[in-house]
Amino acid sequence: MVNFFIVIDGIDGSGTTTHSRLLTGFLENEGFKVYLTQEPSNSEIGILLRKFLKNKDIPPITDALLFAADRNIHYNNDIKKKLDEGYIVISDRYIESSIVYQSTQSDDISIEWVKNINKFIGWPDVTIILDIDPKISLARKTNEDLEKFENTSFLSKVRNLYLARAKQESYHVVSSDDIIEFVQQKIQRLIVDPLKSRGFLFKN
Ligand code: TMP
Repeated sequence: MVNFFIVIDGIDGSGTTTHSRLLTGFLENEGFKVYLTQEPSNSEIGILLRKFLKNKDIPPITDALLFAADRNIHYNNDIKKKLDEGYIVISDRYIESSIVYQSTQSDDISIEWVKNINKFIGWPDVTIILDIDPKISLARKTNEDLEKFENTSFLSKVRNLYLARAKQESYHVVSSDDIIEFVQQKIQRLIVDPLKSRGFLFKN
């Protein structure tokens, strides 16, 4: 059974949701079974995490543990099942979000510790980081709907860490400060070859 696990990650406002959806549409058009999901997930832990995104009083370690717990249930009860059924799974955010956001939140949180509390999950086949300057990505948001991580100075640190991690882990980096269709084409080009080598047959 062929399956494939893709993650699109990046700072707030970088377009991970838009591009995960567009990529899903592209692959479905090619006739593949695609399962689109996101983190925080739809589990009860994920729902709690969405509430906590509006609450600045949650200790960073609590956040880190809950994101790891949400990922554990998401991977085991959702992602893994779909992969076993032969789906291409696309997740809008995954472990790299925890590594960069939670280690930026607190000096007590190391990347090693975040990896450790997440060590029982499956890793993606391909991770694509969407890169944009937070001044641009936050420009469209109004102050009232800002979540706790959505400020330029925090997101600048997060962005730098995404870029450093991408270099270290050989993740693909795509600038999302461009016309959506161009960005999407670049993303599609990055996943066609790995999918073909995994045995997925494209129409074109
Ligand atoms: P989003 O749904 O707009 O992507 O928002 C999710 C927010 O949660 C975003 O600010 C990144 C943050 N986040 C973490 O800090 N750690 C994680 O592990 C995940 C999945 C998200």
